[in-house]
Amino acid sequence: MTRRVAIVTGAGRGIGKGIARGLASQGIHVVINDIDEKLADQTSREIGEWTSTYVSDVSDYGAVSQMVADVVDRFGTIDIVVNNAGISPKKEGKKIPLHEMDAREWQQVMEVNLNGAFHLIRSAAPFMIQQQFGRIVNISSIAAKSYISVSGGHYAATKAGLIGLTKAAAGELAPYGITVNALAPGRIETEMMAEAGMGANQQILSQIASGKFGKPEDIAQAVEFLASEKASYITGAVLNIDGGWVMA
Ligand SMILES: NC(=O)c1ccc[n+]([C@@H]2O[C@H](COP(=O)([O-])OP(=O)(O)OC[C@H]3O[C@@H](n4cnc5c(N)ncnc54)[C@H](O)[C@@H]3O)[C@@H](O)[C@H]2O)c1
Repeated sequence: MTRRVAIVTGAGRGIGKGIARGLASQGIHVVINDIDEKLADQTSREIGEWTSTYVSDVSDYGAVSQMVADVVDRFGTIDIVVNNAGISPKKEGKKIPLHEMDAREWQQVMEVNLNGAFHLIRSAAPFMIQQQFGRIVNISSIAAKSYISVSGGHYAATKAGLIGLTKAAAGELAPYGITVNALAPGRIETEMMAEAGMGANQQILSQIASGKFGKPEDIAQAVEFLASEKASYITGAVLNIDGGWVMA
């Protein structure tokens, strides 16, 4: 059987790195995308042989479409894309309220978190349609569904936008054997989570029914399933992975 090929954006650290490791463990060739070359190289070295790196900024449509073209050129296919790259700007560990937010910061979060996902779907879907197979997973957030005091309004808006994008793409692409799903992580132990500071995270912990933060592997395992043949009848779904925090 030919090896499936995946692109995971923002895979240089955190959740994306966990997803890349999980997919590679399933025998999938993983293209580790990140804007940070050092992080991408480090991840590729750690995971090993069946990975390659591609440094590009997901907010740049030209760069993303070139990445997909290069991947198809090199490996002959693109089967799985995971829109994981995301930013959550804070000031001294605190979110900036909407009524004080710089409009450029709002725009930047839109460009990376939401436009970035459109760029990759727009670029990869035509190849997936040709081969009548594809798996697209968008990493949203619990912040799309409920007010989370540590997350900025721009971040919440993009994560809600990703859910709308997931459903629109799922409907359009279902006839071609392509599934599109979203995951809504709660509090997952990464550098992004650490930026909110211990105090805020401890307060949230008291609201999580399981009494634990999540780990990148918790997200990776769901991606592995959604990317597999076993999940071929699941599309347009949004799965919370939050240890029983929001339950909405
Ligand atoms: N950690 C959490 O608790 C949590 C909860 C819900 C959702 N999420 C989402 O999961 C995803 C990963 O989060 P994380 O906690 O691992 O974050 P992180 O900040 O630890 O890692 C994000 C990675 O994305 C890369 N990146 C940033 N901008 C990029 C761009 N323009 N192009 C390409 N790569 C870029 C960074 O270099 C970094 O390696 C994000 O979309 C985030 O919103 C995280």
